Amino acid sequence: MSLPTSLESTVAALLASGTGILAADESLPTIGKRFAALKIPSTEENRRGYREMLFTAPGLGASISGVILFDETMRQKTAGGASLPEVLAEHKIIPGIKVDSGTMALPGFAGEKITSGLDGLRERLGAYRELGARFTKWRAVISIGEQLPTAGALAANAHALALFAALSQEAGLVPIVEPEVLMDGSHSLARCEEIMTTTLKTVFATLIEQRVALETMLLKTGMVLPGHDCAEQAGMDEVAEATLRCLRRTVPAAVPGIVFLSGGQKDVAATERLNAICRKGGVPWSLSFSFGRALQDTALKTWEGLPANAASAQAALLHRAQCNALAVLGKYSADAENATA
Ligand code: 13P
Repeated sequence: MSLPTSLESTVAALLASGTGILAADESLPTIGKRFAALKIPSTEENRRGYREMLFTAPGLGASISGVILFDETMRQKTAGGASLPEVLAEHKIIPGIKVDSGTMALPGFAGEKITSGLDGLRERLGAYRELGARFTKWRAVISIGEQLPTAGALAANAHALALFAALSQEAGLVPIVEPEVLMDGSHSLARCEEIMTTTLKTVFATLIEQRVALETMLLKTGMVLPGHDCAEQAGMDEVAEATLRCLRRTVPAAVPGIVFLSGGQKDVAATERLNAICRKGGVPWSLSFSFGRALQDTALKTWEGLPANAASAQAALLHRAQCNALAVLGKYSADAENATA
């Protein structure tokens, strides 16, 4: 397919009904960790082979509208010699790129982080567009603790997100603004809702102040969930209600779409919750997914670094993508889960 040329057409293509985004933008340390857990050596060739396997899953474009890549992947080629972004475009999938360079400790704010990567970003964005990218992602990380997050850390992260977004739009790339509130800790559902509400309020005030066009960006956020170590886990309906209440209170209607990250939820649980949220509807934005682990976990375990497993790994990815595409329409069911891809 020919790639969209304007910010508006990119947004429309990314939010095509019944599709979502695959986050395959693991940095070198992160993919190294995921591979190590399965004893797959993190060589450049294995990373290339893994991404080629994912991106060439037959028919992936029916449920996946865009893929977020990591810098290295942007320049890699298939065994047949096509660049990986080209291969995605051939499968009617829009290539995107993670442009932050990860997090570092925020000086003076114990336990809090700031995302780096603004230096030289204008030049890098131009180069990525040349390589075929049409959208970008920047992830800020917010931790919940008794005294965290602080207003200072939220402001610093919101500012970096806003500059990233404005620079992306200037370069003709749709920014995915991702303030991820981590699930680590024993906080309650209510505490997560409170912190996510404050976070999104700060982020949108800053985006507006920095003249980011809300109409041509996407928000990527987690769902409102209790911490991993919270004794009281929440029901599906409670999660959906809290997530939608938080988003309605904080995300302007001008934003065209909100895509959820999976954030360490088990893959089927992430799909079930996405379905519960999308079924309720009644919101001014398109809702969809931009899952990393919740789309890839089974595929990666099936692949094991062996070309002979590629077809089964692709089937596993397609199955998860199709289940999540149904969830976006509020039509996911146990039958869909149990059907083979
Ligand atoms: P997970 O869905 O694995 O949380 O990854 C999404 C992502 O892109 C995090 O930045």
